[in-house]
Order: sequence, then C-alpha cells, then structure tokens
Amino acid sequence: MNATLERWGSRRAFILAVTGAAVGLGNIWRFPYITGENGGAAFLLLYIAFVLLLGLPVMMAEILIGRAGRRSPMLSLGHLATAAGASAHWRWLGLFGAFTVFCILSFYSVVSGWSIEFLVTSINGGFVGATPAEVGAGFEAFLGDPARMTFNHTLFLAMTMLVVAAGVAKGLERLNNLLMPLLYVLLLLLAGYAATTEGFAPALAWLFRPDLAAITPLVVMHAMGHAFFTLAVGACALMAYGAYMPEQQSLPRAAGAVAVLDVAVALLAGIAIFSVVFAQGMDPGEGPGLMFVTLPIAFAELPWGALWLSVFFLLLLLATWTSSINLAEPMVATLQGAGMRRGPAAAAVGVAVWLVGLLSVLSFSTLAEWRPLFGMNVFDLVTTIPTEIFLPVGGLLIAIFAAWVMRREEARAALGVGEAGFRLWQGVVRWVSIPLAFVVLIAGLL
Ligand code: PHE
Repeated sequence: MNATLERWGSRRAFILAVTGAAVGLGNIWRFPYITGENGGAAFLLLYIAFVLLLGLPVMMAEILIGRAGRRSPMLSLGHLATAAGASAHWRWLGLFGAFTVFCILSFYSVVSGWSIEFLVTSINGGFVGATPAEVGAGFEAFLGDPARMTFNHTLFLAMTMLVVAAGVAKGLERLNNLLMPLLYVLLLLLAGYAATTEGFAPALAWLFRPDLAAITPLVVMHAMGHAFFTLAVGACALMAYGAYMPEQQSLPRAAGAVAVLDVAVALLAGIAIFSVVFAQGMDPGEGPGLMFVTLPIAFAELPWGALWLSVFFLLLLLATWTSSINLAEPMVATLQGAGMRRGPAAAAVGVAVWLVGLLSVLSFSTLAEWRPLFGMNVFDLVTTIPTEIFLPVGGLLIAIFAAWVMRREEARAALGVGEAGFRLWQGVVRWVSIPLAFVVLIAGLL
C-alpha cells in the first residue's frame, strides 16, 4: 500500500505540510470572529493556554500514532492497539475522525468558496472606492445567491480532491514551500499598515487586556474547540500525515514550530482585522462575515489596494487549500485502507462532501430558518458541533491512546526523543491534557 512507503521529502517539508494543514480559515477567518464574539483578550488568553497545555501535547500524540503505525488512521490504531494487547475496537476512533473532518470540510469548502468570490471581485476592481456599507451589502447579496455560492464551493472542492487524488506528498510540497513564506510577508505588511491607523491602539487593548469577568464555562469551551481546530488536531488528520513523517525527526520540535507559526498568523490577522473594526466603529461580534467585510475596507485605504487585496485573497485561498487537502486525507486514507484505489476514493469523498456542503450554501437563503437541532441551522451546526465537541472528544481519545494504551517503547521511538523527554511529554498528557479536556467538556456540556 502506498501510504506505508511514501515519505515527505525532508524535515522542512514535513513541518511545512503540517503548518499548511494548521494555517487556514481557522486563523484568518474563524479566530477573529470567534474572539470578537467571546470578549476579546480573555478568549485569546484561554486559547493560547489551550494551545500550550492541550493542543500541542495532543498534536504530538496524534502524529506519533500515525508515525508508529505507518498506515491509514484506522489501520494504525487497530494495529498498535493489538500490538499493545488492547482492544482492536480502538480503530473506530479513526472512523470517528473521518466523520469529523467530513462535517468540517462540508462548510470549509463553502467558506473557502467565499474567498474565490472575493478574489475575483477584487481582481475586477469591485472594491475600489466601495464604502464599508457597500462592502457589507455586497457580501449579503452574495450570501443570498445560492447559485454563485454553489459554483465556488464546487470549484474549491474539485481543486482539493484533485490534489488528494494525485497523492499528498507530491502535490503539497511545492505549494507549501512557496505559499507559507508569502503569506507571512503579506500579513506582516497588513499588520504594519494597521499600526498606522487609529484603530490600532483599541485593537491591541481589545486583544491583549483581558477582562477576566468575561470568562464563562462556555467561553472556555469555545477556546478549547478553537485550539483544536486551528492546530488541526483531534480528527486523525495529522495522524494521516504522521504516517509519511521521515524517520529521523524530532516530533516535539516540529510540533512546536507549527504551533508558533499557527498562533502568529492568527495574531497578525487579528491585529489587522480589529484595527479596521475599531477604526470604522464596527461591531467586533459581527460573526462569520467579519473578515470578509473588514479586509476590503482596510485594503481600500492602501496605495495599490486592489492589488494587495487580490494577493491577500489568493494567499488565503491557497492556505485554505492546503488545509482542506489535509481535511480530506483521513477520509481518503480510510477508504484506501479498506481496499479502494486512491482516485475513486477521492471522487467518492468529493461527491459526498459536496452534497452535504449544499446544505451550508442554502443556510444563507432557502434553508436559513430550517433548524434541525439545538435551534441552529445547518451552517451554524456544522461550524460549531464538530469543532467544539467532536474535535475535543477525538483529541481526548487520541491522548488516552498514545499515553496510556500504546506500548511505551513504540510511543517513545515514534516521538523521537530520549527518556527524559518522553517522560515529560507523557506526564503532561496524562496529568494535564487529559484531565483538562475532560473537565472542560463536561463543564461546557452541562
Ligand atoms: N486547522 C485548519 C484551519 O485552521 C482546519 C482543520 C481542522 C484542518 C481540522 C484539519 C483538521 O483552517
């Protein structure tokens, strides 16, 4: 089987691939709006704490399992469980992960389609001279047009599944090499511009001066879910990438680098976006449209604004592309593990995700008032439940598997560290990450 043989070309390629998976809508689109809805700095503080105490150690656990198993997530889990004398039922965790990424990809593709729309509008000069009200109205009109949204969703998903069908390592390495550095340069530039606006000081205060009274069990749960989402942890997606990890590489170092790069993107995007929000007197709790209405306004003020805006949406699109490829990988790997060929597996996943994605498309028009569960429409459901419940539950089980179930020697070798390093990692996962995830989940759900 392919997956047992292929390897990322180098250590750098592995770090870039995982960063490519991590950096995406979570950092640039979801982070600002969810921070805006949850009180700013207090949320940011919690999110960073969760990245350190939970996201990072569990990311290591997840990649380690893939690396030790060298198979699709389901097969790796089953194989390692049996080798440790535990139940082969652990493999169902791989299927649960595939279900989680299925739900996530169904809206991820739709929202990434919004970037396609904005990219095209921006290239055509559609935002030149537009007032904030006009940008907002244009976005609303687009959301109310299912045909245009479906077109973009279809295009984006096709782009994703083509790369996945071609085999991950080959398709991704080059793209990541080019894209990631460019994205940082552009975000730095944007944050630099934000520093010259009058919204900058209030944006910094909003992001970095926490009001601890704003912390409720629900805010804590949102922060935990977001930490998992942004790091791409908890759905066995990184486990699928771990299977391709080179032999001689320290996993903690790679994971640490990814987490730093990931949080940096979120902070830069947050600074840029909230500076506009405050400069324009907008509402930080505006919701999922926040990035889409603020950035065209910000860029409009810059010289060559339309050009920069187009470059930005292009980079965002590429960043979401590398993430969605990672989202699709565990599903395709699972089908492949069950004996399907890669091409047909990618096609089957693509069609299924496309169909369910239509429900998200229609959540802004025809089905806006259809609320099948918890009073939420489909878009609200798929953007909340998988991230805030499925990822943490998956992450919790992944952590338990790596730190309590797997054979110690196997886990240590796959982590790629010495005895002391392994003890530290295992201690943190056993006594900090697992109890923390458990308590927050229970408290949030009650
Ligand atoms: N981390 C990605 C983002 O921030 C989303 C993702 C979640 C990818 C889970 C893979 C698995 O956009």
